[in-house]
Amino acid sequence: MTIDELAWGRRYLMCPPEHFGVLYEINPWMHAEVVVDKDRAREQWDGLVATLRSAGATVEVVPQPEDVPDMVFTANGGIVDATAPGGPLFVPSHFRHPERQPETEHFARWFDDQGWRVERLPTDLTHEGAGDALPFGGILVSGYRFRSDQLAATAFSRITGTPVRSVELVDERLYHVDITFCPLSDRHAIGAPMGWDRYGRQVMEALVPEPLWLTDEEALSFCANSVVVGTTVVMPVTPVRVGRQLEAWGFDVVTCDVSEFLKAGGGCRCLTLSLDTPLTTVP
Ligand code: ARG
Repeated sequence: MTIDELAWGRRYLMCPPEHFGVLYEINPWMHAEVVVDKDRAREQWDGLVATLRSAGATVEVVPQPEDVPDMVFTANGGIVDATAPGGPLFVPSHFRHPERQPETEHFARWFDDQGWRVERLPTDLTHEGAGDALPFGGILVSGYRFRSDQLAATAFSRITGTPVRSVELVDERLYHVDITFCPLSDRHAIGAPMGWDRYGRQVMEALVPEPLWLTDEEALSFCANSVVVGTTVVMPVTPVRVGRQLEAWGFDVVTCDVSEFLKAGGGCRCLTLSLDTPLTTVP
């Protein structure tokens, strides 16, 4: 079968884990008493970079200051619109938890230094970037509740002219939309219905022509938190049924061990921010 490859996902921003650790607890996977093996984390991160590059992606890096251990999860840095009418646009996140709030200016500065336009959300709304906003089928699917406010997506839509569909997240363990949803091609996507409310499920069922719906167990393995480069799917964990279905569709599946980062509740997708995401604009 031929796959209509995604028009994005070939250029990523990542942050090497110089100061990564589980130093506080802001999601149910994080336990501050758990020790992160720093050398192993670095090896796993290097492995993810190498895997993405050999799949055909380019990787750019932003350094990690000492006081922001979760900054390695660059997906949360903000929302990217690489094809915005006035030039490439970055909208920095407003993090819900004070522990991550200092990351906002680090990300904003990096984009500003690279010559991107940086526009801000209203300060009273929280939104955790691409971690809670993924494009599919001409709209931006925006998750809300645990980390992002529903109204933030509306504000974002107003800034960019991008149509947004909000999906309410209902399971604290799947606290960002990128743990419940992974666009694979123009028609295919992985989804975890256990993570969405009834209305959200209806929205997603109507949106995805060729879905791979995960069982609860599969969803909790973090396998939806995957990075797609053309026809390669880079997964933190690959449940057997999921791997088989992806291969039957014609994807190459690569499992990339990021277990040190799963200790902080993040997988492959969380460790990357797509820099070539084109958002649809409605005039
Ligand atoms: N420890 C981080 C947090 O709780 C993990 C972020 C995961 N990122 C993601 N895009 N799902 O904020």
